[in-house]
Amino acid sequence: MSTATATKVLTDRINRIEVSATMAITAEALKMKAAGIDLADFGAGEPHFSTPQHIKAAAIEAIEKNFTRYTAVAGIPEVRKAIVDRHAADFGTNYAVDECVFTAGGKLAIFNAVEVLVEHGDEVIVPVPYWVSYKDIIEFAGGKPVFVETSEAENFRVTPQMIADAITEKTKAIILNFPSNPSGAVMAKEDLYGIVKLAHERGVYVLLDECYVYLSFNGDLVSGASVAEAKAHVIVLGSLSKTYAMTGWRAGFALGPKQIIGAMSKLQSQSTSNTASMVQHASIAALTASQECVVEMRKDYVKLRDRVLEGFQSIPGLTCTVPEGAFYVYPNISKFIGKSGIKSASDLASKLLTEAHVVTVPGEPFGTTEHVRLSYAVSADVIDKGVARIREYLAKL
Ligand SMILES: Cc1ncc(COP(=O)(O)O)c(C=O)c1O
Repeated sequence: MSTATATKVLTDRINRIEVSATMAITAEALKMKAAGIDLADFGAGEPHFSTPQHIKAAAIEAIEKNFTRYTAVAGIPEVRKAIVDRHAADFGTNYAVDECVFTAGGKLAIFNAVEVLVEHGDEVIVPVPYWVSYKDIIEFAGGKPVFVETSEAENFRVTPQMIADAITEKTKAIILNFPSNPSGAVMAKEDLYGIVKLAHERGVYVLLDECYVYLSFNGDLVSGASVAEAKAHVIVLGSLSKTYAMTGWRAGFALGPKQIIGAMSKLQSQSTSNTASMVQHASIAALTASQECVVEMRKDYVKLRDRVLEGFQSIPGLTCTVPEGAFYVYPNISKFIGKSGIKSASDLASKLLTEAHVVTVPGEPFGTTEHVRLSYAVSADVIDKGVARIREYLAKL
């Protein structure tokens, strides 16, 4: 029998992390909506489109054909082939099927990659602003996020020199996410390729979070994995969530060196096992059919972005970089901090929610203190209503 006196319930590693900030805001907004409050909701980072019909039909057909059992942990060969073929066609990469694992969402791909690569005390470089989950995922693994500040005046640009300056002998990996959540910034090809080459030379892994890679508005789809000579240090972390309006399906993947993908599959074999079998068939349909639906959705996002930015121009004091991808705007709200007792971006976001009934996400969990994030994957009506409410609320401060 144990004679331990103090009983500790939770582990250190679970106490190192927080509930996802975006999920917390979404939960609060849901409560207000349930109470009948009409919100202009720019909170959730997910497409407002329905999943395209041919993708839904493939899942229904898989169920009807009783494709409802366990599959190979890393996904059936057909879905992994569809992933590597799509990536090859779009970015000229040449991954083999056993260099691909299909995961229950892109977030799990990132989580598992960090778990198999990052040892206690290892450093992982993360440019600011960053997607909310990186910090916690790294800390859960025992790693240390090393934040690299960027300049808003330069559209949050990240250069090879900035990364070179942050590398130490403890650096294990760099996480890059462009188009960016939260800023919508897109990396110049030269900067991206330069960082990938530098990382390879220095023996550092580049985790390419390609969640929004197909939502780049300047017509040029770019992947750091196209730098063939750096393949040994590149891991692509992909997601079907935003590309095909499939957030609820939980479909993501990783592409990378066989040893790392094998380790991620091993971890998956002891946790989630395979992704839902019918989702694998839906994903094959998404990846192999015409990509016209992606083109159409992208066109709509550009129109919605322009509508929000035009609306912002009518709000004195609010400034905003022009996002070149994803579906977020990241306006600078520093002019309003200090007015009428507004203490911080979080404070402003919370007052926008309770007093103006507009859902935004404050900048702090993305690593900046002077912004709020709005997802414009909503209807034009919601944009007009929400922008009008923000304008009215800020004018009163
Ligand atoms: C930058 C980024 N990476 C990864 C993900 C994970 O997406 P999912 O787990 O739905 O594939 C998200 C979702 O919001 C994201 O914004």
